[in-house]
Amino acid sequence: MKMHLDEKIWLIISFGMIMGFMFFTGYQTFVLGMGPPSEMETIDPQRVDETAPFDEPGVYQIGENEYEVVMTLEIFSFNPGEIEIPAGSTVHFTMTSKDVTHGVQVAGTNMNAMVMPGHVQRITQTFREPGEYLMLCNEYCGTGHQFMATTITVK
Ligand code: CUA
Repeated sequence: MKMHLDEKIWLIISFGMIMGFMFFTGYQTFVLGMGPPSEMETIDPQRVDETAPFDEPGVYQIGENEYEVVMTLEIFSFNPGEIEIPAGSTVHFTMTSKDVTHGVQVAGTNMNAMVMPGHVQRITQTFREPGEYLMLCNEYCGTGHQFMATTITVK
């Protein structure tokens, strides 16, 4: 079979790309353990309720215009369910899951993260504009997944 040179070049390029993607996927899976790429903070998912700070989920003021939200996720809710903060606040979310993998996304912001059992997820977001921000789960977590949402009220 006769093959044109540019056909050969394209075959080599596409084969190389496939090998590259497979290498990175394999690296993430086996070397990074499929964990979050940032900090690997772990927690016993069976004992979330007894482990600080998750034994007391809530909204805590830690400075001027600075808040920490300690949050647990479980099917199909966020705890605390209601969050209210003044406009201009920087919020440090400390989150973990009590059961399966959930996602957390806040509409109208860049905040978007996975929350996995056994891991502590930390993410910081500043809310400048007042309004109601929809916070929802964006990882399919079961039959009630579409009801897993809450609101952040910025006043
Ligand atoms: Cu939690 Cu979907």
